[in-house]
Amino acid sequence: MLSTQTKLEVLHPAGQIAGRVAELGAQISRDYAGKSIILIGVLKGAAIFLSDLARSITPACTFDFVAVSSYGRGAHSSGIVRMVKDLDHSIEGQHVILVEDILDTGLTLAYLRGLLLQQKPASLKIAALLDKPARRLEKIEADYVGFTLPNHFVVGYGMDFAERYRNLPDICLMPPDAPE
Ligand code: PRP
Repeated sequence: MLSTQTKLEVLHPAGQIAGRVAELGAQISRDYAGKSIILIGVLKGAAIFLSDLARSITPACTFDFVAVSSYGRGAHSSGIVRMVKDLDHSIEGQHVILVEDILDTGLTLAYLRGLLLQQKPASLKIAALLDKPARRLEKIEADYVGFTLPNHFVVGYGMDFAERYRNLPDICLMPPDAPE
């Protein structure tokens, strides 16, 4: 099946994503019944996943966002990640779920998890829409995973190629030889 907006091949159509996000939201709602949650989205890729996931969650929840920039990703296990937008509020004593579109090498989430744990949240879990274990460099797993991804580059539903395609409703496969 091809995307209606582009000629890209669809890996996960919008309807399938919606169903899986609703399942994750129901699971999170059960796990956090009677508690309140802070969802922390990692900009920009997680924005659409977070907004859909939040609407599938019944316990009280608030949002915050962080942004990071990365250097040397994929080339070295010592790839440096740097925070470029910090949290707006303290998370001390709060139940936190870090929300990511994709867990790939794990460098981003390992860095963020380390930083956030310094603030002593009551709990810290990770929700990743996509998990690409084949490229993992850090020992880190998500607590809530939408789909496990083969070693393909994907776009859509928040994910980009040179900042394009984030608005596609489906998750699509990007050909390896695509020009920017
Ligand atoms: C992507 C994704 C994660 C990170 C995962 O962000 O949103 O934050 O890479 O990769 P890792 O597990 O190898 O660290 P990207 O740098 O593409 O920025 P974006 O979210 O703004 O698209």
